[in-house]
Amino acid sequence: MADQSSNQMWGGRFAAGPDAIMEAINASIAYDQRMAAQDISGSRAHAAMLAAVGVISDSDAEAIGKGLLTVLSEIEGGSFAFSAALEDIHMNVEARLKEIIGEPAGRLHTGRSRNDQVATDFKLWVRDQLDAAETGLLALMRALLGQAEAGANWVMPGFTHLQTAQPVTWGHHMMAYVEMFGRDLSRVRDARARMNECPLGAAALAGTSFPIDRDMTATALGFDRPAANSLDAVSDRDFALEFLSVASICAMHLSRMAEELVIWSSAQFRFVTLSDRFSTGSSIMPQKKNPDAAELIRAKVGRIFGANTALMMVMKGLPLAYSKDMQEDKEQVFDAADNWMLALAAMEGMVRDMTANQAALAAAAGSGFSTATDLADWLVRVPGLPFREAHHVTGALVAMAEKRGCDLPDLGLADMQSVHGDITQDVFGVLGVENSVNSRMSYGGTAPAQVRAQIMRWKERLA
Ligand code: ARG
Repeated sequence: MADQSSNQMWGGRFAAGPDAIMEAINASIAYDQRMAAQDISGSRAHAAMLAAVGVISDSDAEAIGKGLLTVLSEIEGGSFAFSAALEDIHMNVEARLKEIIGEPAGRLHTGRSRNDQVATDFKLWVRDQLDAAETGLLALMRALLGQAEAGANWVMPGFTHLQTAQPVTWGHHMMAYVEMFGRDLSRVRDARARMNECPLGAAALAGTSFPIDRDMTATALGFDRPAANSLDAVSDRDFALEFLSVASICAMHLSRMAEELVIWSSAQFRFVTLSDRFSTGSSIMPQKKNPDAAELIRAKVGRIFGANTALMMVMKGLPLAYSKDMQEDKEQVFDAADNWMLALAAMEGMVRDMTANQAALAAAAGSGFSTATDLADWLVRVPGLPFREAHHVTGALVAMAEKRGCDLPDLGLADMQSVHGDITQDVFGVLGVENSVNSRMSYGGTAPAQVRAQIMRWKERLA
């Protein structure tokens, strides 16, 4: 007879209960209780299937199904007493079910194991988060589209190396982020489609001798099909790693955009004004309005990428099939998911609420010799200089303007001709910022007509 203090689920062969330290390192209930709803869905599907194939009686299945709903309402209502001695959410739920319905509860675990159970619960949880990420990304992309539409033709400086490069349009810059987040969205959808195979019924690792119907449970839980190999099904955490990888790339994108908002909202740039709702003040400097949300979003990539790395290291070198190491998967994913969703929502709010300062953007667009390339292109197009020579001539004109402390259009025709005799009055037509952006009509270019075409394409895709 087992010791009274040994585990009521698996203590049959134990003479003593676990040391307190054993219990502390072993228990996951402090965090895996977040999968309670998924655990109960999985168990309800399993019980219904066991009855359908005649492994348990219909009345037992009914008692189990109803009892599990009672457990769920206790957990959701906050009255459920979680126990570390019962290790995890799976055993906490089953033990409470036994208290509520008695003997039939003991039949629920027929033909399954905690190994396929946890894989199923966790997949369901991650799948919900992928769906939430899709919603968050769509909202953010719509906010960016709104900004792009409002300023499709507003000129601003485009940068490389964070040095003024060529004028671009505000709409073009916003749509660049729509492309980025659009790739994140497609990665989310790919990951969801790939992960949607049901581990339930793989049992401990080898499958089961009971005549279970894995298609039935897979369908009941919204999976496309049962996972095809029971060893793989219980040992696979690719779906969690893929979730973290997708989240990491998206968080990296969010951090890049956040960085731009930090720079743009500074007094030196004033490209955008963030709303009061998404800014904070300083407790000592009364004039301050800080872009804290943008800074925090910029930082979130650290923990999300950290979670990805951590789980990679947990999984590295694990032999088939299940090992307890894998219990270390959840906290990483939970933390990354919470912070990813928060970052998406905060970015969406900031983008939706922010005001682009058209005048400041336009003033900056013309500075820094931003139309020098247009001048070089003109020298190629009109007098027919080879591009390398045109580049050289333009460089000399930039140096002249820099020395005089003026912009390219402020140089007179005579000054220009002193550098190259073929330059005519015509050239001044291409030195304007508006002309510059309007001329960039190549597919995907910054011309407002191209930007509006990009906006239309995305609006149709997101409709
Ligand atoms: N709490 C465990 C986990 O998160 C559940 C699976 C336990 N399986 C086992 N054979 N001990 O992975």
